[in-house]
Amino acid sequence: MEITLGQTKLVLIQGDITVQDTEAIVNAANEGLRGGGGVDGAIHRAGGPTIAEECRRIREERGGCPTGQAVLTSGGQLKARYVIHAVGPVWSGGSRGEDELLASAYRSSLELAREHGIKSIAFPSLSTGAYRFPVDRAARIAMRTVVEYLESHPDTFTEIRFVLFSEPVLKSYEEALNEILGK
Ligand code: APR
Repeated sequence: MEITLGQTKLVLIQGDITVQDTEAIVNAANEGLRGGGGVDGAIHRAGGPTIAEECRRIREERGGCPTGQAVLTSGGQLKARYVIHAVGPVWSGGSRGEDELLASAYRSSLELAREHGIKSIAFPSLSTGAYRFPVDRAARIAMRTVVEYLESHPDTFTEIRFVLFSEPVLKSYEEALNEILGK
C-alpha cells in the first residue's frame, strides 16, 4: 500500500528491514543499546561491529536511551547510511503509559531524522515482538503518529516506509491506515 501526504510517500510493505535502501532504518532497540534478537539482532549482524561500538559510546556518554526516545548511529555496512535506535515500551497490560510511550518512540525517531536532514526512513513494527505489544493496537498508534507528524511537517520527508515482517502484520498496518484515512 502507498499513499502520498504532502511531499511524503507513506509506504507499507512486507519485508526485511536490514536490506532497505532508505537513508535511515529504525532499530527496535532496548534502553541499554546492548543488542538482542529480532530486528536488533538482524541489524547488528548485517551492519557489522561499528554499530555496537557507537552504541557503547552513547551508553558511556548518556547511559543509553530511555523508553520512548531514540538515538542515531551510522549504518555500518548496511545500505542505509544511518540507524535510528528507538526504544518502544514493554507491554504490561496497557495501563502503564504504553500507548503514549510507543507514540513517543515513533515521534522521537521522526524528530531525530528531521534534525539530521534525513529524507527517507524505514520503520519496523516497534514493540510487537519480544516486547509483546498487541499488533492491532500498535499499528493504530504507529499510523496515527506518523500521519499526524506528516500533517505538521509536510515538506520534511520524501518517504516513510513501514517494513512489516509477516503478511498478518502488514494487513494490520494497512487496516489501521485505512481507518485513519476514513476509508
Ligand atoms: N525486518 C523487519 N521486521 C522484523 C525483522 C526484520 N529483519 N525481524 C523481526 N521483525 C519483526 C518482528 O516479527 C516483530 O513484528 O519486528 C517486530 C518487532 O519485534 P522485535 O524485534 O522483537 O522488537 P520489540 O518487540 O520492540 O522488542 C525489542 O527485543 O531484540 C530485542 O534488543 C531488543 O530488547 C529489545 C527487544
